[in-house]
Amino acid sequence: MKKLIGPFTQILPLTGLPLKGALKDEQLHLIANGGVLVENGLIIEVSDFEELRKANSSIQIEEVQSPQVLLPGFIDCHTHICFGGNRAKDYSMRIAGKTYLEIAKAGGGIWDTVSQTRAADEAMLVETLVQRANRHLAEGVTTIEVKSGYGLSLQEELKQLRAIKTASAQTKAKLVPTCLAAHMVPKDFTGSQEEYLQHVVNDLLPVIKQQNLTNRVDIFIEQSAINVENALVYLNRAKQMGFDITVHADQFTAGGSAVAVQVGAVSADHLEASGEHEIELLADSNIVAVTLPGASMGLGMPYAPARNLLDAGACLAIASDWNPGSAPMGDLLMQAAVMSASEKLSAAEVFAGLTFRAAAALKMEGGILAPGMPADMQAYPCADYREILYYQGKLKPVQVWTGGDKA
Ligand code: NIG
Ligand code: FE
Repeated sequence: MKKLIGPFTQILPLTGLPLKGALKDEQLHLIANGGVLVENGLIIEVSDFEELRKANSSIQIEEVQSPQVLLPGFIDCHTHICFGGNRAKDYSMRIAGKTYLEIAKAGGGIWDTVSQTRAADEAMLVETLVQRANRHLAEGVTTIEVKSGYGLSLQEELKQLRAIKTASAQTKAKLVPTCLAAHMVPKDFTGSQEEYLQHVVNDLLPVIKQQNLTNRVDIFIEQSAINVENALVYLNRAKQMGFDITVHADQFTAGGSAVAVQVGAVSADHLEASGEHEIELLADSNIVAVTLPGASMGLGMPYAPARNLLDAGACLAIASDWNPGSAPMGDLLMQAAVMSASEKLSAAEVFAGLTFRAAAALKMEGGILAPGMPADMQAYPCADYREILYYQGKLKPVQVWTGGDKA
């Protein structure tokens, strides 16, 4: 059924903006006293509320309390929120000054979460994933990418991917699954790194395809995880099988982003260690550069060079990396707002990075309020969009809609 939602003090449709490069707030299209006409989950029109009301007499009206600023729902294009247990022990060691190696030696790191995730049954994984997705949704995140990568065996990776599929039917947030079986070589695998990746290509990826569990493959390219040489072989094989590729790149050392460009990945994520050469490579490609401020905060490390990436002409998205190890906070807006003060990102760049530029990282349409787009939206209790980043993540949406329905 058709309905008109509004009046909103301001609507930021985020339309008419370029996919790549720097943005100024002056480029933002603002609609004062706006309304959104919705039917069958899609946006029909975004315009002046009174005009829409006059043109659609006898239509159902969903009135909102003033003041409110309406934005597209955020799209978190990089998370690891399907996991068991937590890593508070790692965190306490880290803030007490212990190194990565010391933490790993004490039984911490990714492998600890693999053990805790393997120990969780599928129903428990579904339940906690739905809880996290719903928390994100209440905070305005209407689409959430979710990676596996804490199973690291045929059965356990399938368990995670099935849990993501089951959870997506139990939350109003849209979940986009990704296979991250190449997160690290599992400690209980007896062969080499090459042999593990071959095993994933031969035995896991075909099953994932057949069971339609995901069409996206991710990898952690790093000296301490998967090396560049093996990554290239693995990603090319996955690509030949029809998977879209995304890469954990340049987190501690540079190298992954060049692989991402070479294999034609949809996104290269992290980039904290990207230098001038990597920035240029990314800016000259069609890859979405995804910055993950939550990981920088969790690890106490510098942010990715977001300002330089935008100035070089890259498409920059901002995601939470929500995971139990490096980014346990999971508050996407707070992370984006706090990073923007250090990196000097305009509000237009931040909101673009949280919406339509993040949609590009998932090869999806959306992240704008325009006719034909899903009515995934969020409203903040303020009169001016600039207040949203000003409160650095403490101002939360008063209402979120998915497919035009209250979430
Ligand atoms: O994106 N960098 C690799 N993977 C995750 C961390 C995973 C973990 O520590 O559990 C990340 O930061
Ligand atoms: Fe990650």
